[in-house]
Amino acid sequence: MGDLKVLIKEEELQERIKKVAEQITKDYENKEIVLICILKGSTFFTVDLAKRIDNPLKIEFIQVSSYHDSTESSGNVVMKLDLKESIEGKDIIVVEDIIDTGRTLSYLLDYLKGKNPASIKLCTLLDKPERRMYDVQVDYVGFEIPDKFVVGYGLDFGELYRNLPYVAYIES
Ligand code: IMP
Ligand code: MG
Repeated sequence: MGDLKVLIKEEELQERIKKVAEQITKDYENKEIVLICILKGSTFFTVDLAKRIDNPLKIEFIQVSSYHDSTESSGNVVMKLDLKESIEGKDIIVVEDIIDTGRTLSYLLDYLKGKNPASIKLCTLLDKPERRMYDVQVDYVGFEIPDKFVVGYGLDFGELYRNLPYVAYIES
């Protein structure tokens, strides 16, 4: 484990999240929104985003595990915690911490579309476009970042570092 280098400072994160929330507020006018927070990584982002959105808003949680092995098949995504409420007819925004290969989200979006929401959009704090293997359409992006392994602000390495208020990368 090398040193941590700050990639996105706390103030930069909060400033950008405010902008994304303003855009969402504008796009959805006064419609009710359901944010779907993907545990555990997107909890910090979901909370800060939700506080800045000026709409009637609900938050639901879902957890999936993605096993990155040599086969890289979408069959390796496993549901760990399912939604507790119906999203049928709801306007939902899936909130993710980071999109890497896109495998987790392509699985999850297919799954959620099957539950017949009125609309479904995707909001990610971080995007590593260089790494994309699965085609996913992202509606709101906080920051595009280079192909580095990052931690902090919800993102972990072996479950640690989620509590950092900034995003950092591990210098190897
Ligand atoms: P994907 O399915 O390859 O897009 O991977 C998405 C998931 O992998 C994210 O939800 C994260 O949990 C994890 N992940 C991908 N890149 C990073 C990183 O740089 N740091 C921490 N977790 C990551
Ligand atoms: Mg993770």
